[in-house]
Amino acid sequence: MADNTAILKVRDKEIELPILSGTAGNDVIDVRSLGANGYFTYDPGFMATGSCESSITYIDGAKGILLHRGYSIEELARNSDYIEVVYMLLHDKTPNKQEYKDFKDTITRHTLVHDQLNNFFRGFRRDAHPMAMLCGSVGAMSSFYHDDLNIHDPEQRLRSAYRLVAKMPTLVAMCYKYNVGQPFVYPKNELSYAENFLNMMFSVPAEDYKISPAVAKAVDRIFILHADHEQNASTSTVRLAGSSGANPYACIAAGVASLWGPAHGGANEACLNMLEEIGTVERIPEFIAKAKDKDDPFRLMGFGHRVYKNFDPRATVMRESCHEVLAELNIDDPLLNVAMELERIALSDPYFAEKKLFPNVDFYSGIVLKAIGIPTNMFTCIFALARTVGWVSHWHEMLSQPGQKIGRPRQLYTGEAQRPYNKLDK
Ligand code: CMC
Repeated sequence: MADNTAILKVRDKEIELPILSGTAGNDVIDVRSLGANGYFTYDPGFMATGSCESSITYIDGAKGILLHRGYSIEELARNSDYIEVVYMLLHDKTPNKQEYKDFKDTITRHTLVHDQLNNFFRGFRRDAHPMAMLCGSVGAMSSFYHDDLNIHDPEQRLRSAYRLVAKMPTLVAMCYKYNVGQPFVYPKNELSYAENFLNMMFSVPAEDYKISPAVAKAVDRIFILHADHEQNASTSTVRLAGSSGANPYACIAAGVASLWGPAHGGANEACLNMLEEIGTVERIPEFIAKAKDKDDPFRLMGFGHRVYKNFDPRATVMRESCHEVLAELNIDDPLLNVAMELERIALSDPYFAEKKLFPNVDFYSGIVLKAIGIPTNMFTCIFALARTVGWVSHWHEMLSQPGQKIGRPRQLYTGEAQRPYNKLDK
Protein backbone atom coordinates (compact mmCIF):
# COMPACT_ATOMS: atom_id res chain seq x y z
CA MET A 1 0.00 0.00 0.00
CA ALA A 2 1.34 3.45 -0.92
CA ASP A 3 1.90 5.67 2.14
CA ASN A 4 -0.45 8.24 0.66
CA THR A 5 -3.35 5.79 0.59
CA ALA A 6 -5.57 4.61 3.43
CA ILE A 7 -7.47 1.34 3.25
CA LEU A 8 -10.88 1.36 4.90
CA LYS A 9 -12.18 -2.12 5.61
CA VAL A 10 -15.95 -1.98 5.84
CA ARG A 11 -17.65 -5.33 6.41
CA ASP A 12 -16.39 -7.49 3.55
CA LYS A 13 -15.13 -4.66 1.39
CA GLU A 14 -11.83 -2.75 1.23
CA ILE A 15 -11.99 0.83 0.00
CA GLU A 16 -8.85 2.72 -0.96
CA LEU A 17 -8.84 6.35 0.05
CA PRO A 18 -6.17 8.92 -0.89
CA ILE A 19 -4.34 10.74 1.91
CA LEU A 20 -3.80 14.43 1.18
CA SER A 21 -1.10 16.54 2.82
CA GLY A 22 -1.18 20.29 3.34
CA THR A 23 1.80 22.51 4.16
CA ALA A 24 1.23 22.05 7.90
CA GLY A 25 -1.19 20.25 10.21
CA ASN A 26 -2.89 16.87 10.08
CA ASP A 27 -3.05 14.99 6.80
CA VAL A 28 -6.60 14.39 5.62
CA ILE A 29 -8.21 11.23 4.27
CA ASP A 30 -10.12 12.08 1.12
CA VAL A 31 -13.48 10.33 1.61
CA ARG A 32 -15.23 11.76 -1.44
CA SER A 33 -15.47 8.34 -3.11
CA LEU A 34 -17.25 6.78 -0.11
CA GLY A 35 -20.74 7.85 -1.21
CA ALA A 36 -20.42 5.83 -4.41
CA ASN A 37 -19.46 2.83 -2.22
CA GLY A 38 -22.65 3.12 -0.19
CA TYR A 39 -21.28 4.92 2.88
CA PHE A 40 -21.13 8.41 4.28
CA THR A 41 -18.84 9.57 7.05
CA TYR A 42 -20.55 10.72 10.25
CA ASP A 43 -19.05 13.61 12.19
CA PRO A 44 -21.57 15.96 13.81
CA GLY A 45 -19.75 18.98 15.20
CA PHE A 46 -16.96 18.45 12.60
CA MET A 47 -14.64 16.98 15.22
CA ALA A 48 -12.31 15.47 12.60
CA THR A 49 -13.61 16.72 9.27
CA GLY A 50 -11.92 19.20 6.96
CA SER A 51 -14.57 21.05 4.99
CA CYS A 52 -12.32 22.88 2.52
CA GLU A 53 -8.80 23.68 1.37
CA SER A 54 -7.55 27.07 2.60
CA SER A 55 -4.31 29.05 2.70
CA ILE A 56 -5.47 31.88 4.96
CA THR A 57 -5.05 30.79 8.57
CA TYR A 58 -3.34 27.92 10.34
CA ILE A 59 -3.95 26.83 13.93
CA ASP A 60 -2.05 24.25 15.94
CA GLY A 61 -4.27 23.96 18.99
CA ALA A 62 -1.91 21.70 20.95
CA LYS A 63 1.05 24.08 20.56
CA GLY A 64 -1.00 27.28 20.82
CA ILE A 65 0.01 28.47 17.34
CA LEU A 66 -2.11 30.81 15.22
CA LEU A 67 -0.72 32.00 11.87
CA HIS A 68 -2.33 34.34 9.36
CA ARG A 69 -0.81 33.89 5.89
CA GLY A 70 2.14 32.31 7.73
CA TYR A 71 2.71 35.17 10.22
CA SER A 72 2.29 34.53 13.94
CA ILE A 73 -0.55 36.30 15.70
CA GLU A 74 1.73 37.47 18.51
CA GLU A 75 4.02 39.26 16.01
CA LEU A 76 1.09 40.75 14.14
CA ALA A 77 -0.64 41.94 17.31
CA ARG A 78 2.53 43.52 18.66
CA ASN A 79 4.00 45.01 15.47
CA SER A 80 1.33 45.58 12.81
CA ASP A 81 -2.06 47.23 12.76
CA TYR A 82 -5.50 46.03 11.76
CA ILE A 83 -5.42 47.63 8.29
CA GLU A 84 -2.18 45.80 7.48
CA VAL A 85 -3.68 42.51 8.70
CA VAL A 86 -6.80 43.11 6.59
CA TYR A 87 -4.59 43.68 3.53
CA MET A 88 -2.63 40.50 4.22
CA LEU A 89 -5.69 38.35 4.75
CA LEU A 90 -7.32 39.54 1.53
CA HIS A 91 -4.20 39.74 -0.67
CA ASP A 92 -2.02 36.91 0.64
CA LYS A 93 1.00 39.20 1.08
CA THR A 94 2.17 41.99 3.33
CA PRO A 95 1.77 45.46 1.77
CA ASN A 96 4.76 47.67 0.98
CA LYS A 97 4.64 51.28 2.20
CA GLN A 98 2.80 52.60 -0.86
CA GLU A 99 0.36 49.67 -0.98
CA TYR A 100 -0.37 50.16 2.71
CA LYS A 101 -1.07 53.89 2.21
CA ASP A 102 -3.28 53.30 -0.85
CA PHE A 103 -5.17 50.53 0.90
CA LYS A 104 -5.71 52.62 4.02
CA ASP A 105 -7.05 55.46 1.81
CA THR A 106 -9.40 53.06 0.02
CA ILE A 107 -10.82 51.72 3.28
CA THR A 108 -11.11 55.24 4.73
CA ARG A 109 -12.97 56.46 1.64
CA HIS A 110 -15.55 53.68 1.94
CA THR A 111 -16.53 54.22 5.58
CA LEU A 112 -19.70 56.24 4.93
CA VAL A 113 -22.85 54.18 4.56
CA HIS A 114 -25.68 55.10 2.20
CA ASP A 115 -27.70 57.78 3.98
CA GLN A 116 -30.92 55.85 3.36
CA LEU A 117 -29.61 53.24 5.82
CA ASN A 118 -30.42 55.77 8.57
CA ASN A 119 -34.10 55.32 7.72
CA PHE A 120 -33.70 51.58 7.67
CA PHE A 121 -32.48 51.71 11.28
CA ARG A 122 -35.57 53.62 12.35
CA GLY A 123 -37.61 50.49 11.67
CA PHE A 124 -35.94 48.70 14.59
CA ARG A 125 -37.20 48.92 18.15
CA ARG A 126 -34.97 51.18 20.24
CA ASP A 127 -34.34 48.35 22.70
CA ALA A 128 -33.50 45.75 20.03
CA HIS A 129 -30.30 43.81 20.69
CA PRO A 130 -27.47 45.44 18.67
CA MET A 131 -26.63 42.05 17.10
CA ALA A 132 -30.21 41.82 15.83
CA MET A 133 -29.80 45.23 14.20
CA LEU A 134 -26.39 44.27 12.84
CA CYS A 135 -27.73 41.05 11.21
CA GLY A 136 -30.50 43.09 9.58
CA SER A 137 -28.43 46.06 8.48
CA VAL A 138 -25.55 43.98 7.05
CA GLY A 139 -28.06 41.89 5.08
CA ALA A 140 -29.74 45.10 3.92
CA MET A 141 -26.46 46.34 2.42
CA SER A 142 -27.08 44.11 -0.61
CA SER A 143 -30.08 46.32 -1.40
CA PHE A 144 -27.87 49.44 -1.30
CA TYR A 145 -24.70 48.24 -3.04
CA HIS A 146 -25.98 46.05 -5.84
CA ASP A 147 -23.59 47.46 -8.46
CA ASP A 148 -20.76 45.10 -7.43
CA LEU A 149 -22.58 41.83 -6.98
CA ASN A 150 -21.07 39.71 -9.76
CA ILE A 151 -19.47 37.15 -7.47
CA HIS A 152 -17.58 35.54 -10.37
CA ASP A 153 -15.52 38.71 -10.93
CA PRO A 154 -12.55 38.83 -8.49
CA GLU A 155 -12.35 42.65 -8.76
CA GLN A 156 -15.98 43.03 -7.74
CA ARG A 157 -15.53 40.52 -4.93
CA LEU A 158 -12.63 42.58 -3.56
CA ARG A 159 -14.64 45.81 -3.85
CA SER A 160 -17.43 44.22 -1.80
CA ALA A 161 -14.81 43.06 0.71
CA TYR A 162 -13.39 46.61 1.06
CA ARG A 163 -16.89 48.03 1.48
CA LEU A 164 -17.73 45.53 4.17
CA VAL A 165 -14.51 46.08 6.13
CA ALA A 166 -14.86 49.87 5.82
CA LYS A 167 -18.54 50.12 6.69
CA MET A 168 -18.75 47.63 9.56
CA PRO A 169 -17.46 50.10 12.21
CA THR A 170 -19.99 52.67 10.97
CA LEU A 171 -22.86 50.15 11.15
CA VAL A 172 -21.79 48.82 14.56
CA ALA A 173 -21.58 52.37 15.96
CA MET A 174 -25.02 53.09 14.46
CA CYS A 175 -26.45 50.05 16.30
CA TYR A 176 -25.12 51.53 19.54
CA LYS A 177 -26.25 55.11 18.89
CA TYR A 178 -29.73 53.94 17.93
CA ASN A 179 -29.92 51.88 21.12
CA VAL A 180 -29.01 54.80 23.38
CA GLY A 181 -31.07 57.35 21.45
CA GLN A 182 -28.17 59.52 20.30
CA PRO A 183 -27.67 60.87 16.77
CA PHE A 184 -25.51 58.84 14.40
CA VAL A 185 -21.95 60.16 14.09
CA TYR A 186 -20.39 60.26 10.62
CA PRO A 187 -16.89 58.83 10.06
CA LYS A 188 -13.90 61.23 10.04
CA ASN A 189 -11.21 60.60 7.44
CA GLU A 190 -8.28 61.93 9.48
CA LEU A 191 -8.75 59.23 12.15
CA SER A 192 -7.32 55.71 12.13
CA TYR A 193 -9.68 52.74 11.79
CA ALA A 194 -9.86 52.12 15.56
CA GLU A 195 -9.99 55.85 16.45
CA ASN A 196 -12.76 56.42 13.96
CA PHE A 197 -14.78 53.60 15.49
CA LEU A 198 -14.31 55.00 19.01
CA ASN A 199 -15.28 58.47 17.79
CA MET A 200 -18.45 57.21 16.09
CA MET A 201 -19.32 55.35 19.30
CA PHE A 202 -18.63 58.01 21.89
CA SER A 203 -18.70 61.52 20.43
CA VAL A 204 -21.92 63.51 20.40
CA PRO A 205 -22.69 66.75 18.53
CA ALA A 206 -22.46 68.62 21.84
CA GLU A 207 -19.07 67.23 22.84
CA ASP A 208 -16.02 65.76 21.13
CA TYR A 209 -14.64 62.46 22.37
CA LYS A 210 -11.02 62.59 23.51
CA ILE A 211 -9.37 59.48 22.10
CA SER A 212 -6.76 57.93 24.38
CA PRO A 213 -3.89 56.46 22.30
CA ALA A 214 -3.68 53.50 24.72
CA VAL A 215 -7.38 52.77 24.29
CA ALA A 216 -7.18 53.11 20.47
CA LYS A 217 -4.19 50.73 20.48
CA ALA A 218 -6.07 48.19 22.63
CA VAL A 219 -9.11 48.36 20.34
CA ASP A 220 -6.91 47.91 17.25
CA ARG A 221 -5.38 44.89 18.97
CA ILE A 222 -8.81 43.44 19.70
CA PHE A 223 -9.59 43.83 15.99
CA ILE A 224 -6.34 42.07 14.98
CA LEU A 225 -6.87 39.23 17.46
CA HIS A 226 -10.39 38.57 16.18
CA ALA A 227 -9.65 39.06 12.46
CA ASP A 228 -9.76 35.40 11.47
CA HIS A 229 -9.79 31.96 13.03
CA GLU A 230 -9.91 29.39 10.22
CA GLN A 231 -13.03 27.23 9.84
CA ASN A 232 -14.95 28.24 13.00
CA ALA A 233 -18.76 28.11 13.11
CA SER A 234 -19.42 31.59 11.68
CA THR A 235 -16.77 31.31 8.93
CA SER A 236 -18.10 27.90 7.93
CA THR A 237 -21.57 29.46 7.89
CA VAL A 238 -20.35 32.21 5.55
CA ARG A 239 -18.72 29.62 3.29
CA LEU A 240 -21.83 27.45 3.22
CA ALA A 241 -24.09 30.43 2.47
CA GLY A 242 -21.64 31.65 -0.18
CA SER A 243 -21.30 28.21 -1.78
CA SER A 244 -24.78 28.59 -3.25
CA GLY A 245 -23.76 31.81 -4.98
CA ALA A 246 -25.46 34.14 -2.47
CA ASN A 247 -24.26 37.76 -2.44
CA PRO A 248 -21.50 38.78 0.02
CA TYR A 249 -23.70 40.95 2.24
CA ALA A 250 -26.20 38.12 2.72
CA CYS A 251 -23.32 35.73 3.46
CA ILE A 252 -21.74 38.06 6.03
CA ALA A 253 -25.18 38.58 7.65
CA ALA A 254 -25.32 34.77 8.01
CA GLY A 255 -21.88 34.90 9.66
CA VAL A 256 -23.09 37.60 12.07
CA ALA A 257 -26.07 35.39 13.01
CA SER A 258 -23.87 32.38 13.65
CA LEU A 259 -21.38 34.41 15.69
CA TRP A 260 -24.13 35.61 18.01
CA GLY A 261 -24.41 32.33 19.97
CA PRO A 262 -22.83 32.19 23.46
CA ALA A 263 -20.61 29.21 22.54
CA HIS A 264 -18.95 31.39 19.86
CA GLY A 265 -18.83 35.20 19.62
CA GLY A 266 -21.47 35.66 22.28
CA ALA A 267 -18.97 34.38 24.86
CA ASN A 268 -17.51 37.79 25.76
CA GLU A 269 -20.98 39.16 26.50
CA ALA A 270 -21.92 35.96 28.37
CA CYS A 271 -18.64 36.26 30.29
CA LEU A 272 -19.40 39.79 31.51
CA ASN A 273 -22.95 38.75 32.42
CA MET A 274 -21.47 35.88 34.41
CA LEU A 275 -19.06 38.25 36.21
CA GLU A 276 -22.03 40.45 37.10
CA GLU A 277 -23.90 37.41 38.41
CA ILE A 278 -20.89 36.40 40.51
CA GLY A 279 -20.83 39.98 41.79
CA THR A 280 -18.17 39.74 44.50
CA VAL A 281 -14.82 38.01 44.92
CA GLU A 282 -16.25 36.05 47.90
CA ARG A 283 -18.76 34.29 45.63
CA ILE A 284 -16.15 32.98 43.14
CA PRO A 285 -15.65 29.57 44.87
CA GLU A 286 -19.42 28.93 44.64
CA PHE A 287 -19.29 29.45 40.85
CA ILE A 288 -16.11 27.42 40.46
CA ALA A 289 -17.93 24.57 42.23
CA LYS A 290 -20.91 24.97 39.88
CA ALA A 291 -18.60 24.84 36.84
CA LYS A 292 -17.09 21.58 38.12
CA ASP A 293 -20.43 19.97 38.96
CA LYS A 294 -21.31 17.45 36.21
CA ASP A 295 -25.03 17.81 36.96
CA ASP A 296 -24.96 21.59 36.62
CA PRO A 297 -25.02 22.97 33.06
CA PHE A 298 -23.18 26.13 34.21
CA ARG A 299 -19.84 26.77 32.48
CA LEU A 300 -17.26 29.43 33.14
CA MET A 301 -17.80 31.71 30.17
CA GLY A 302 -14.58 32.88 28.53
CA PHE A 303 -12.84 29.63 29.49
CA GLY A 304 -11.96 26.70 27.24
CA HIS A 305 -11.66 26.33 23.50
CA ARG A 306 -12.41 23.67 20.91
CA VAL A 307 -8.99 23.82 19.28
CA TYR A 308 -6.60 25.39 21.79
CA LYS A 309 -5.89 22.77 24.38
CA ASN A 310 -2.83 24.34 26.03
CA PHE A 311 -3.23 28.06 25.69
CA ASP A 312 -4.92 30.52 23.36
CA PRO A 313 -2.12 32.63 21.83
CA ARG A 314 -4.59 35.48 21.31
CA ALA A 315 -5.38 35.45 25.02
CA THR A 316 -1.69 35.83 25.90
CA VAL A 317 -1.47 39.11 23.96
CA MET A 318 -4.94 40.27 25.01
CA ARG A 319 -4.05 39.67 28.64
CA GLU A 320 -1.15 42.15 28.27
CA SER A 321 -3.46 44.75 26.70
CA CYS A 322 -6.04 44.11 29.38
CA HIS A 323 -3.59 44.84 32.20
CA GLU A 324 -2.18 47.88 30.29
CA VAL A 325 -5.63 49.40 29.76
CA LEU A 326 -6.72 48.81 33.34
CA ALA A 327 -3.53 50.53 34.58
CA GLU A 328 -3.80 53.40 32.06
CA LEU A 329 -7.43 54.15 32.83
CA ASN A 330 -6.90 53.61 36.53
CA ILE A 331 -10.33 52.06 36.84
CA ASP A 332 -11.57 50.72 40.12
CA ASP A 333 -14.47 48.54 39.05
CA PRO A 334 -15.48 45.67 41.39
CA LEU A 335 -16.42 43.58 38.33
CA LEU A 336 -12.88 43.81 37.01
CA ASN A 337 -11.57 42.76 40.41
CA VAL A 338 -13.86 39.71 40.22
CA ALA A 339 -12.46 38.94 36.74
CA MET A 340 -8.84 39.15 37.84
CA GLU A 341 -9.48 36.98 40.90
CA LEU A 342 -11.46 34.44 38.84
CA GLU A 343 -8.54 34.22 36.41
CA ARG A 344 -6.13 33.60 39.31
CA ILE A 345 -8.28 30.95 41.03
CA ALA A 346 -9.24 29.07 37.86
CA LEU A 347 -5.64 28.96 36.62
CA SER A 348 -4.51 27.35 39.86
CA ASP A 349 -7.38 24.82 40.08
CA PRO A 350 -6.44 21.24 39.02
CA TYR A 351 -9.91 20.65 37.45
CA PHE A 352 -9.31 23.36 34.88
CA ALA A 353 -5.71 22.28 34.32
CA GLU A 354 -6.75 18.63 33.75
CA LYS A 355 -9.48 19.59 31.29
CA LYS A 356 -7.13 22.09 29.65
CA LEU A 357 -9.46 24.99 30.34
CA PHE A 358 -7.88 28.42 30.51
CA PRO A 359 -9.14 31.92 29.79
CA ASN A 360 -9.68 32.43 26.06
CA VAL A 361 -9.38 35.69 24.11
CA ASP A 362 -12.97 36.64 24.90
CA PHE A 363 -12.37 36.61 28.62
CA TYR A 364 -9.79 39.41 28.33
CA SER A 365 -11.35 41.31 25.42
CA GLY A 366 -14.63 41.53 27.38
CA ILE A 367 -12.80 43.09 30.32
CA VAL A 368 -11.01 45.62 28.07
CA LEU A 369 -14.24 46.56 26.30
CA LYS A 370 -16.00 47.00 29.62
CA ALA A 371 -13.12 49.13 30.94
CA ILE A 372 -13.31 51.51 27.98
CA GLY A 373 -17.03 51.99 28.41
CA ILE A 374 -18.47 49.71 25.72
CA PRO A 375 -21.75 48.25 26.93
CA THR A 376 -21.86 44.48 27.26
CA ASN A 377 -24.53 44.00 24.63
CA MET A 378 -22.17 45.55 22.04
CA PHE A 379 -19.33 43.09 22.57
CA THR A 380 -20.37 40.55 19.96
CA CYS A 381 -20.93 43.33 17.41
CA ILE A 382 -17.29 44.33 17.90
CA PHE A 383 -16.21 40.74 17.37
CA ALA A 384 -18.32 40.73 14.17
CA LEU A 385 -16.73 43.99 13.01
CA ALA A 386 -13.24 42.53 13.42
CA ARG A 387 -14.12 39.09 11.98
CA THR A 388 -15.69 40.54 8.83
CA VAL A 389 -12.32 40.49 7.07
CA GLY A 390 -11.87 36.82 7.95
CA TRP A 391 -15.33 35.93 6.68
CA VAL A 392 -14.96 37.84 3.46
CA SER A 393 -11.42 36.50 2.85
CA HIS A 394 -12.73 32.94 3.12
CA TRP A 395 -15.68 33.76 0.87
CA HIS A 396 -13.32 35.30 -1.72
CA GLU A 397 -10.90 32.36 -1.50
CA MET A 398 -13.69 29.80 -1.87
CA LEU A 399 -15.07 31.47 -4.99
CA SER A 400 -11.55 31.69 -6.50
CA GLN A 401 -11.06 27.93 -6.29
CA PRO A 402 -11.65 25.91 -9.46
CA GLY A 403 -14.45 23.36 -9.25
CA GLN A 404 -16.07 25.08 -6.27
CA LYS A 405 -19.22 23.18 -5.27
CA ILE A 406 -22.30 24.03 -3.24
CA GLY A 407 -21.88 22.74 0.34
CA ARG A 408 -24.29 19.88 0.96
CA PRO A 409 -23.67 17.61 3.99
CA ARG A 410 -25.31 14.19 4.25
CA GLN A 411 -26.99 12.67 7.29
CA LEU A 412 -27.70 9.54 9.29
CA TYR A 413 -31.45 9.26 8.93
CA THR A 414 -33.20 8.02 12.10
CA GLY A 415 -36.84 8.78 11.21
CA GLU A 416 -39.63 6.44 10.08
CA ALA A 417 -39.10 4.18 7.09
CA GLN A 418 -41.62 4.75 4.30
CA ARG A 419 -45.16 4.10 5.59
CA PRO A 420 -48.67 4.33 4.08
CA TYR A 421 -50.44 7.69 4.26
CA ASN A 422 -54.09 7.57 5.37
CA LYS A 423 -56.02 10.40 3.77
CA LEU A 424 -57.57 12.60 6.47
CA ASP A 425 -61.34 12.78 6.30
CA LYS A 426 -61.75 16.61 6.67
N1 CMC B 1 -16.41 25.64 32.21
C1 CMC B 1 -16.46 24.45 32.85
N2 CMC B 1 -16.24 23.27 32.23
C2 CMC B 1 -15.99 23.28 30.93
C3 CMC B 1 -15.90 24.50 30.21
C4 CMC B 1 -16.12 25.70 30.89
N3 CMC B 1 -16.06 26.87 30.24
N4 CMC B 1 -15.62 24.22 28.91
C5 CMC B 1 -15.53 22.89 28.82
N5 CMC B 1 -15.73 22.32 30.04
C6 CMC B 1 -15.65 20.89 30.36
C7 CMC B 1 -16.87 20.16 29.83
O1 CMC B 1 -17.89 20.09 30.79
C8 CMC B 1 -16.30 18.81 29.47
O2 CMC B 1 -16.21 18.07 30.67
P1 CMC B 1 -16.37 16.45 30.64
O3 CMC B 1 -15.17 15.96 29.86
O4 CMC B 1 -16.33 16.06 32.09
O5 CMC B 1 -17.67 16.17 29.96
C9 CMC B 1 -14.87 19.12 29.01
O6 CMC B 1 -14.52 20.36 29.66
C10 CMC B 1 -14.73 19.28 27.50
O7 CMC B 1 -15.70 20.25 27.04
P2 CMC B 1 -16.43 20.19 25.64
O8 CMC B 1 -17.70 20.96 25.70
O9 CMC B 1 -16.52 18.76 25.18
O10 CMC B 1 -15.38 20.94 24.74
P3 CMC B 1 -15.67 21.63 23.35
O11 CMC B 1 -14.37 21.66 22.66
O12 CMC B 1 -16.82 21.01 22.65
O13 CMC B 1 -16.14 23.11 23.79
C11 CMC B 1 -16.24 25.42 24.17
C12 CMC B 1 -15.40 24.26 23.62
C13 CMC B 1 -15.49 26.74 23.85
C14 CMC B 1 -17.61 25.46 23.48
C15 CMC B 1 -16.40 25.25 25.70
O14 CMC B 1 -15.14 25.22 26.32
C16 CMC B 1 -17.28 26.33 26.32
O15 CMC B 1 -18.51 26.19 26.31
N6 CMC B 1 -16.66 27.44 26.84
C17 CMC B 1 -17.40 28.56 27.36
C18 CMC B 1 -17.85 29.42 26.21
C19 CMC B 1 -16.72 30.22 25.59
O16 CMC B 1 -15.94 30.87 26.30
N7 CMC B 1 -16.66 30.23 24.25
C20 CMC B 1 -15.72 31.06 23.51
C21 CMC B 1 -14.69 30.30 22.77
S1 CMC B 1 -13.42 31.41 22.17
C22 CMC B 1 -14.18 32.37 20.98
C23 CMC B 1 -14.28 31.72 19.66
O17 CMC B 1 -13.26 31.33 19.08
O18 CMC B 1 -15.43 31.62 19.18
